[in-house]
Amino acid sequence: MTYDLNSKVVLITGAAGGIGAATARELYARGASLVLTDLQQSAVDHLAQEFDAERVLPLALDVTDADATKAVVRKTIERFERLDVAFANAGISWRGTPGTIMGCDEQEFEHIVEVDLFGVWRTIRAALPEVVRNEGQILVTSSVYSFLNGVANAPYAASKAAVEMLTRSLQVELGGSRATASVVYPGWTATAIAKVAFGGNELATRMNETALPNFLRRPIQPEQMAKAIVMGIESRSTRIIAPGHWAPISLLRGMFNAVTDWTLRRDERFQGLLRKLETQQPGQS
Ligand SMILES: NC(=O)c1ccc[n+]([C@@H]2O[C@H](COP(=O)([O-])OP(=O)(O)OC[C@H]3O[C@@H](n4cnc5c(N)ncnc54)[C@H](O)[C@@H]3O)[C@@H](O)[C@H]2O)c1
Repeated sequence: MTYDLNSKVVLITGAAGGIGAATARELYARGASLVLTDLQQSAVDHLAQEFDAERVLPLALDVTDADATKAVVRKTIERFERLDVAFANAGISWRGTPGTIMGCDEQEFEHIVEVDLFGVWRTIRAALPEVVRNEGQILVTSSVYSFLNGVANAPYAASKAAVEMLTRSLQVELGGSRATASVVYPGWTATAIAKVAFGGNELATRMNETALPNFLRRPIQPEQMAKAIVMGIESRSTRIIAPGHWAPISLLRGMFNAVTDWTLRRDERFQGLLRKLETQQPGQS
């Protein structure tokens, strides 16, 4: 049975970003009403101008604030009288320079986990009673980093692996209801968050080029990711992964992880880049 998005109410965190905004447009085209949330009110107001004011509610929300997240759910119900789908999508990585566990800035490490793990937990927790009541869906943006080695990106990768498990746990806990939960695994997508590793930082870019074959580094556009996400909502898929070549890698992750971890530990070129990165870290000064 297709989940019909027409007249459903969907809340998106990180809605002003690349994947959030592209998904908002796809959902709107299928008749959904949207609660667009992101750090800056001006950013969601700007996006909301694309849509009929009757079907959109733009709200500032920092997902590290549990009370503010609950307040957004309350405002959603006040305005639309329901919430059907919550898309916990807000995420961050390093601001500029990637770091190792020994060398990175401690506060930045913890802030990434605050947003990427606890922000997702807070969004799920706030939205869940209403989503269950409406037999709706929780969607969580994880990443291919939930199974790729997180070298030089540990707080991000650790959080993405954690939210994958959070969502898998939820899927089973929801087994007795008609609500469902999905893990979204974007591959590289051409948005602001991917800039550091794709040209924005020379060492991160070279590490990527050393560790991954060309076809795995080819970014997709956020619109392609958004189409996959909306198809996944319509079919209540438990896993939404794009581009498709990541699907077999994800399924064979046990073997893939053992081989890639072994290789990266021994690859001299890769280890040389890592040592160079560590000399530039705040923890080493
Ligand atoms: N782009 C990729 O290659 C890629 C790959 C895998 C996973 N992802 C994930 O996809 C999701 C969307 O990222 P994107 O690619 O659209 O990047 P993006 O940087 O364009 O969007 C992220 C959005 O999250 C918002 N945000 C940051 N901190 C926040 C906070 N504390 N509270 C609320 N909102 C906050 C940002 O303002 C931004 O609009 C993220 O969870 C990201 O980790 C992206």
